[in-house]
Order: sequence, then structure tokens, then C-alpha cells
Amino acid sequence: MTKFLLSLHVLAAIVAVGPVTVAASMFPPAARRTAPAGGGAPDPSAVGTVALLHRICRVYAGVGISVPVLGLATGAVMGVLGSGWLVTSIALTAAAAGVLAAFVLPRQEELLGQLRGEQAVDRRDTVQLAMFTGIFNLLWATVTVLMIVRPGSTTGA
Ligand code: HEM
Repeated sequence: MTKFLLSLHVLAAIVAVGPVTVAASMFPPAARRTAPAGGGAPDPSAVGTVALLHRICRVYAGVGISVPVLGLATGAVMGVLGSGWLVTSIALTAAAAGVLAAFVLPRQEELLGQLRGEQAVDRRDTVQLAMFTGIFNLLWATVTVLMIVRPGSTTGA
């Protein structure tokens, strides 16, 4: 049962968190590229790309909820929910989800709304979004390392 849950947990992390990382990282430069060379309204096909990237982030963030859910189930079955590395991971996962839900996704939506209204986006806004996206990526990458190294753990390798 533990192996089954752990497999699902890792599979969910790969399938859900991977696409969010890639699409969210591509979003700010893609939003900047909507500006036509000579100025004027944003290029509709470039705006379509930005919309698709946002959709990938939103949908896979939803699927990503299964990662902590399966993680908690795995931890419960293994009886390790009280261990320091796991408590730290849970806190960092919550922080990563918070950054995604409170900053990354709403700001993407804002920029997309401006582009759909044929309004050019402010470069500073895309830089700030890139910063929040970087924080999100760093947080979950740290969790992945913690999951593998499990400092202080005496179970397994
Ligand atoms: C509430 C959040 C989470 C909980 C409670 C949790 C729980 C767990 C548990 C109990 C294990 C088994 C460790 C062991 O074999 O002793 C594990 C493994 C793993 N988790 Fe998580 N996890 C969470 C979030 C995440 C996130 C956000 C990621 C990556 C995006 C992740 C990636 C992994 C990976 C790659 C492993 C395999 C490590 C290995 O066996 O070497 N987990 N997790």
C-alpha cells in the first residue's frame, strides 16, 4: 500500500508540478512578446499563446492538489507525519501553493485580461510575475530535495 501511494504521489508530482513549472516560467517572456515591433495592439496569436500557458498553469495547479493529498496519505501509512523533514516539507508545500494561488495565477490573469482588452502590458509587471514564479519554483524544488534526502530520517536509504 505504501509503495502504491508513494508511486502515485511521485507520479502526481511529475505530471502536475512539471507542467506548471514550465508554463509559468514561459508566461512572462511570452507576455512581453505580444508587443508588436512597431507598437500598437498586442499580436492576437501571441496573446493566444499566453492564454494557453495560463490555462496549463491553472488546470495543472488543480491536478497538483493531489500531490500533498497523496503525500499526506503516504506519510500517514508510513507513520512519519511527525518527522521534522516532513513537517518542513508540508510547510514549504503550503507556502509554494500560497505563492501560486495568491500571486502567480492572479497576476497572470490580470496580464491576460489586459492583453485581451488589446492593452499592452507593462514590462515591470512581467518582471514581478517572473520573480514570484521563481519563488514558487524554488520552494517546490526545495521540497523535492527534502523528500529525497529526508534529513534525520532512519527509514530506508
Ligand atoms: C504536504 C506535502 C507533502 C507530503 C506530506 C509528502 C509526503 C511524502 C512522503 C511520506 C514520502 C515518502 C518518503 C519516504 O520514502 O520515506 C514522499 C516522497 C516523495 N515526495 Fe512528497 N510529500 C509532499 C509534497 C511533495 C511535493 C510538493 C513534491 C514535489 C513536487 C514531492 C515529491 C516527492 C518525491 C520525488 C518523493 C520520492 C522520494 C524518494 O522516495 O526518494 N512531495 N513524500
